[in-house]
Amino acid sequence: MKKADLDWGSMDFSYKQTNARFVANWDNGSWDEGAMTEDANIVINECAGVLQYAQTCFEGLKAYTTVDGRIVVFRPDLNDARLKDSCDRLRIPALPEGMFIKSVEEVVRANAEFVPPYGTGATMYLRPFIFGSGPVIGVKPAPSYQYRLFATPVGPYFKGGAKPITIRVCDYDRAAPHGTGHIKAGLNYAMSLYAIDDAHEAGFAENMYLDAATRTKVEETGGANFLFVTKDGKVVTPKSDTILPSITRRSLMVVAKDILGLEVEEREVYKEELADFAECGLCGTAAVISPVGCVNDHGKEIFFPAGMEDMGPVTRKLYETLTGIQMGTVEGPEGWIHEIKCD
Ligand code: PLP
Ligand code: COI
Repeated sequence: MKKADLDWGSMDFSYKQTNARFVANWDNGSWDEGAMTEDANIVINECAGVLQYAQTCFEGLKAYTTVDGRIVVFRPDLNDARLKDSCDRLRIPALPEGMFIKSVEEVVRANAEFVPPYGTGATMYLRPFIFGSGPVIGVKPAPSYQYRLFATPVGPYFKGGAKPITIRVCDYDRAAPHGTGHIKAGLNYAMSLYAIDDAHEAGFAENMYLDAATRTKVEETGGANFLFVTKDGKVVTPKSDTILPSITRRSLMVVAKDILGLEVEEREVYKEELADFAECGLCGTAAVISPVGCVNDHGKEIFFPAGMEDMGPVTRKLYETLTGIQMGTVEGPEGWIHEIKCD
């Protein structure tokens, strides 16, 4: 496979337009078949549901080149299922059976030259999304919808890659009890923009959101779940109904338990416990696993013993095993890798 002439090694996490994307439309009660298009622009009515009432949700997954040159995606069935959950909560019609996987395969094939070569540290990010395209002025679901999936090659989400970041405890809330924190609604991200800009201006890489009801428990960041490692090597992740059920986090808990033989625990994690952990990381498709070296809680700095120079040893093992599964150097559980034949 001939690859695009790009500097894969120095790529950042930004949008770069690629060859073709998948588009399908829902109107009069059903989805059309969908098709590939080279047009990266969308023309919609000024009163479209997405523009007026933010009726939109999205997903994120990646395509990888394995050590033996195959192109694969990681657990796309889980993105398909989560997109259905998001659609359901936002009154968006779910995609017909099979369309999600078909769109992933077609977009990866059409843009195979943009799937970064093995070993470069870059990957191809896939962004499926659905939005209310038809006009709606009263507050109700839109009369028509569009589904799209585009691809863009990306580098690390956080500058510095594996270097531990410093984050802060955030005074803004991300998700309310019984709200939309557990789905991937665009509105969850719109309302986090003020907080993330504010964090960046104050010199922090991300926000640690707390539970909105009691502000005592650790939830997640704007784009990743938390993983902690206790001083005796147990992997702990926050349990909450108001965080996104990260596919990376769910996979890492299986890796930790079944492949690395570690003890794992999904439970409520209190902010007051932070100082007791040995390691902390953020996990997600974009973030992979990004180590956190320090949490700043209103001026009180909590440094994790793993330090500010490198990932802690357990975080590193998790990172290497997960990326090994994704890149074909480690055997993963059955069904985790979905190969897309591109020749
Ligand atoms: N939490 C939030 C708020 C996210 O946006 C994401 C990214 O998708 C994640 C967690 C990580 O989820 P996943 O591992 O499925 O990418
Ligand atoms: C992802 O990891 O796929 C995300 O959606 C995180 C962020 C880019 C919003």
